[in-house]
Amino acid sequence: MNYDLLIDLYKGNSRQGPGGDEQTKLVLRLSELIGTPEPLKVVDIGCGTGASTLILAETLNAKITAVDLFQDFLDVLTVDAKTRGLSDKITTLAVRMEELPFEENSLDVIWAEGSIYNMGFEKGVEYFKRFLKPGGLLAASEITWLTKERPEEIQKYWDSEYPEIATASEKIRILEDQGVVLKSYFLLPESCWIENYYTPLENMFDGFLAKHGSEDARAIVKAEKAEIALFKKHRAYYSYGFYIAQKI
Ligand SMILES: C[S@@+](CC[C@H](N)C(=O)[O-])C[C@H]1O[C@@H](n2cnc3c(N)ncnc32)[C@H](O)[C@@H]1O
Repeated sequence: MNYDLLIDLYKGNSRQGPGGDEQTKLVLRLSELIGTPEPLKVVDIGCGTGASTLILAETLNAKITAVDLFQDFLDVLTVDAKTRGLSDKITTLAVRMEELPFEENSLDVIWAEGSIYNMGFEKGVEYFKRFLKPGGLLAASEITWLTKERPEEIQKYWDSEYPEIATASEKIRILEDQGVVLKSYFLLPESCWIENYYTPLENMFDGFLAKHGSEDARAIVKAEKAEIALFKKHRAYYSYGFYIAQKI
């Protein structure tokens, strides 16, 4: 995997996965986090260039630590936070989500938009929850099957890409088994995939290939195009679910 190329492609997009500002705000309303008298301690894990981090900073009374594996993404966020007058609310931290440097029971909110899959949902919930205070919230979006049966083509694709993909009821069971109580759940609409993520990505392919003429770059674009085509064909069968859950 050529990470330098992937980073170069993705950092030009405002999102590194399906999502939307309106959906981030919806989670905040559902979580009843807006307007707290004391600043909340929030960690945005796998924040990428920080599409969600910026909304959290604009909407919440909070001190936010934005965590990602790649400093290049965090550098984009640092510039955008400054432009939007949010630098005093956001600190960036380049660490692996598997090795978070926070104290146990210390955080009000853990946000993981399109990122918990990097650890796997079950392992991620089990690991992240230890950092939440009792009553603290985990807000995570995760690829989710919408039906029990689906076409073989898309089943095979996700079996190889992310075998932990499952229905919402299976994901909710994992939360319950971990003692994390589901407060709300909703599905991201198609616009979060197409308008907010895939179309801007597609618009970057020509420029990316003109800049990097390598075999690796062509392979990345080919794989992205295949993923997009599969989504367009099978979008009735999967989306991202947003799971908002509270540590008891
Ligand atoms: C699908 S993107 C989502 C980015 C952002 N939350 C969004 O919604 O646009 C997943 C993010 O997780 C980050 N990531 C991948 N593996 C990671 C790890 N082990 N530790 C921390 N971040 C990781 C990637 O760099 C990427 O920014």
